[in-house]
Amino acid sequence: MTDNLSPADTAKLAAAERAVSFVQDGMRLGLGTGSTAAWMVRCLGRRVRDEGLQIVGVPTSEHTAVLARAEGIEIVTLEEAGWLDLTIDGADEFDGDLNLIKGGGGALLREKIVASASDRMIVIADAGKHVAQLGDFPLPVEVIRFGWQSTRDQIAELLEEFDVARREITLRLRDDVPFVTDEGNYILDLELGQIADPRHLALLLNQIPGTVENGLFIDLCDLAIVGHVDGNVTLVERTEDDDGFDNAV
Ligand code: 5RP
Repeated sequence: MTDNLSPADTAKLAAAERAVSFVQDGMRLGLGTGSTAAWMVRCLGRRVRDEGLQIVGVPTSEHTAVLARAEGIEIVTLEEAGWLDLTIDGADEFDGDLNLIKGGGGALLREKIVASASDRMIVIADAGKHVAQLGDFPLPVEVIRFGWQSTRDQIAELLEEFDVARREITLRLRDDVPFVTDEGNYILDLELGQIADPRHLALLLNQIPGTVENGLFIDLCDLAIVGHVDGNVTLVERTEDDDGFDNAV
């Protein structure tokens, strides 16, 4: 599994291995989506096979479900699991408060539902995903197909009121046709450059009719495990201040 890895994969695997060390017998897990999360699923599969680890997983995409089954991980629905002990997922960007942009792989809706139904969320990522301010990575917004142009126009109007560096909105395509999510929706990618107030933007985006969910994950992540190309990892934890607000350490 680990022969001749590229530096990028070495970093992803290092983060995935550390994250999987937090998994204990009997846990109900949210299984993220993307290339880093795929390493986590493989590491988890190895623990299931080698140690007889007893866990169940709720996959955040059809793609992850296929991989998890192939790795011998028992898959259940979120309804069957009821609640999750831990979700491990990748991210496209994370800031010092452990707020995230997710959805580069198009799975943000299930990812957010699963993360918010978990006691704890761990993000695994390479060092390049750690940013001072969110927004360089285009922000994915999942929208209903019906009337998506009208939804896009209302998002454009909303962005006029926001402190962002750019305001470009693109319908995500795959093979020259609109990309369709596992839930049958479209994705609009918002090129914003910098988002001064991601918390406020996340709230207002979801009030626009036709918007299903946005890729800003606010106050959901508890720990980021950052993988490095030399195989080391750094942990960035969210702690609670006296005033009740969370900050990374
Ligand atoms: C999918 C996601 C992924 O977690 C995110 O895109 C990171 O992917 P990768 O680990 O391949 O860089 O949010 O919707």
